[in-house]
Amino acid sequence: MTPINSSVPLLTKILANLVVLSAMKTRNAHWNVVGHDFRPMHAFFEELYNDIDPAIDAVVSAFVQLGEPAPGQLAALLSSQR
Ligand SMILES: [Fe+2]
Repeated sequence: MTPINSSVPLLTKILANLVVLSAMKTRNAHWNVVGHDFRPMHAFFEELYNDIDPAIDAVVSAFVQLGEPAPGQLAALLSSQR
């Protein structure tokens, strides 16, 4: 589907970066943190991905307001993130 609105490619990149940051990078850090500061760092990474999730919803709302479908396929998001 060809985007109608010129904002869609930028919104797609923002969404992709937020999803990868929340779903993979901060969760990976949360799952794999080790060491004497495990507890505060584990809690910090959890707080971080919980704080990112509302931003994902806000970006998806922008797609809706433009009348465009938000990309929901992982492959499409991975190819758009950096
Ligand atoms: Fe945990």
